[in-house]
Amino acid sequence: MEKNIFHTSPYMEKAKEILAKMTLSEKIGQTVLYGSMSQLNMDEMRAGKIGALLNVPNVKTANEMQRIAVEETRLGIPLLIGHDVVHGDRTLFPAPLAGSASFDLELIEGAERVAASEAYREGINWIYSPMIDIARDARWGRMAEGAGEDKFYGSKVAAARVRGFQSINPETGHPYAAACFKHYCGYGLSEAGRDYESCDVGERTLYGEYLPVYKAALEAGAMTCMSSFNSLNGVPVTGSRYYLTELLREKWGFEGMVVSDWQSVSELTYHGVVKDEKDAARLAMSAGCDMDMHSAAYDKYLEEIVKEDPEFEKYVDEAVLRVLCTKIALGLFENPYREEDNEKYFLTPENRAASRTLAENCMVLLKNEDGTLPLERGKKYLLTGPLADAKFENMGIWGGRGDPATVVTVKEALEAEEGISVEYLKGCDCEGNDRSGMKAAGRLAASCDGIIYVCGEPCQWAGEGGGRVDLSLGSPQSDYLRLLSSLRKPLVTVVLCARPLALTDVDSSSNAVLLGWQGGVELGNAVKNILLGEVSPSGRLPVTFPRHTGQLPFYYANLPGGRPRWRPDVRSRYRDCDTTPLYPFGHGLTYGKVEYTEVKLDKKTLAMHDDDITASVTVRNDSDVAVKEVVQAYFCDVVSSVETPERRLCGFEKVSLAPHEEKKVSFTFTADDFSFIGLDMKDTVEPGEIVLFIGPDSTTGNEERFEIV
Ligand code: GLC
Repeated sequence: MEKNIFHTSPYMEKAKEILAKMTLSEKIGQTVLYGSMSQLNMDEMRAGKIGALLNVPNVKTANEMQRIAVEETRLGIPLLIGHDVVHGDRTLFPAPLAGSASFDLELIEGAERVAASEAYREGINWIYSPMIDIARDARWGRMAEGAGEDKFYGSKVAAARVRGFQSINPETGHPYAAACFKHYCGYGLSEAGRDYESCDVGERTLYGEYLPVYKAALEAGAMTCMSSFNSLNGVPVTGSRYYLTELLREKWGFEGMVVSDWQSVSELTYHGVVKDEKDAARLAMSAGCDMDMHSAAYDKYLEEIVKEDPEFEKYVDEAVLRVLCTKIALGLFENPYREEDNEKYFLTPENRAASRTLAENCMVLLKNEDGTLPLERGKKYLLTGPLADAKFENMGIWGGRGDPATVVTVKEALEAEEGISVEYLKGCDCEGNDRSGMKAAGRLAASCDGIIYVCGEPCQWAGEGGGRVDLSLGSPQSDYLRLLSSLRKPLVTVVLCARPLALTDVDSSSNAVLLGWQGGVELGNAVKNILLGEVSPSGRLPVTFPRHTGQLPFYYANLPGGRPRWRPDVRSRYRDCDTTPLYPFGHGLTYGKVEYTEVKLDKKTLAMHDDDITASVTVRNDSDVAVKEVVQAYFCDVVSSVETPERRLCGFEKVSLAPHEEKKVSFTFTADDFSFIGLDMKDTVEPGEIVLFIGPDSTTGNEERFEIV
């Protein structure tokens, strides 16, 4: 689709009417996003030289700023007021990667709807989410913000989160907020897990694995996009006309507005592709970056650039039209202000329940030896570990406007529970050399029936700038794990973290391992409900968990190579570590026993066009407990003109199964579902044999074969 199609926006007529009245200075004002209230120049605001704000502390201030923009400027254009609502506003939800582990798109969408409705009440009308960068190296702290390593699932999650954020507000008939998919593009390739690094990848992998999620977000109707800090194959994205206009708009048909990530316009000087900030402003604006987040390069230089080259104003006009269309689509001209008596809208029982439900559905039972879990009621447990009673550390990587005091800890939830008694001992911190707290563990455990150890990674260690070279528990947590394991009591380890850790020692020392992630305000209640069997765990891993940090980057849909890991004679290997993951993509146990029947196909050949094929299995819960099973479908293209992965996710469905209930689950595919990026760099489908696997994770499953003809 080679055309510049944003002119088809339904709001374009009104936007063009406004543009026709604007001075150059007022136009440039609409391309300026100011991110710090402390340095905000009110005269600039009143002169209409600021079009958007970030980090506005509360609804009262938001109304004050809107009032200046609407009532004290010449044209009265309201402000976009943005914020990083990444996993909830006041009602914090599980961190995004955690939420993705639910494999429940409705729950994910519903969580974002709650988040957007609360953000709306704060005067926020633009949400810098969803972050959808594919990431395969857990050393990169921002993996926690995304939907994992797989483009198929990541694309589904991206669309669900956009729909949630842009849910229509019944009071206004407009979206609560404009979503902003980020960070376009390829930021998840940040080299060696170091944040803000250059990103380099083969074109086939770029187009086949890393770019589809952004297309999925824009096809879901995302109103805005954030250009990323990074260069991609040597080209800084924020200054790239190819990525921001030719691909995003002319090829993919994006009609929305592009904002740069924080100061990434002026940072083009650091990339060394421009000689100064003025050139940076020129390059970014002509590339298609409509708004400059807090670098002031547009504010300082665009007027001069247009005066030197009047032709340049056409770029400014296009950018301003997209900014105005966004504001019109949000209904801001009719409804810029928000109710200031707003506390009643936050952390309601319904919103907390939504957070708890997502938390319960995303926690992953990684190991459960001899049915250690669920815990027996009426017993006594030593509850210990640095994150068992931690509020701030469990808020999640973008706690935003959340309040640590609103987080229910594991300790609070278990102590409030009638059916179980706990003896609490913190034992140690997440880091440092103080081991004094461990000494009492032996004495306290002696009178207990088991131990619950809550450890992992505090939220401030992950997220932006949260790169780590060693993802193991590290000391003192791992020393404490060894001590607890030596006490010869059933040991349940609950790991709280926002991205994969290297849990080899946790797995070998514990009888059961529950991944609680960073579970939002209802973390403790969700962990308690799973530990006590109120809820059967149903989360599945949207990312691979390595045995050792040294295995990274690590992902399931890798290319086999000529000596694949499974070859009996010569194979890909390490001298000092198994080459398999500790826990594979899609892994997660339940308290039930789910059996899969053979795969049945409704035909044995699938035509390249105008045809489809349906694969079905029956899943049966051979247990007395209700469970939820994530039925997963993967495929292998046995022979293709370029190397393709031995397993690719192509379908999933989360089904509830009552005790002894069975259900038929079907997946219908067309040939396009088995496409790959061919030798000519285009989406390609070839005739040949496809193997379909349907099972509980990316390493097992029953298989059936058919031919694409
Ligand atoms: C940050 C992040 C981006 C965020 C923006 C505004 O640096 O990279 O995700 O939306 O700045 O806070």
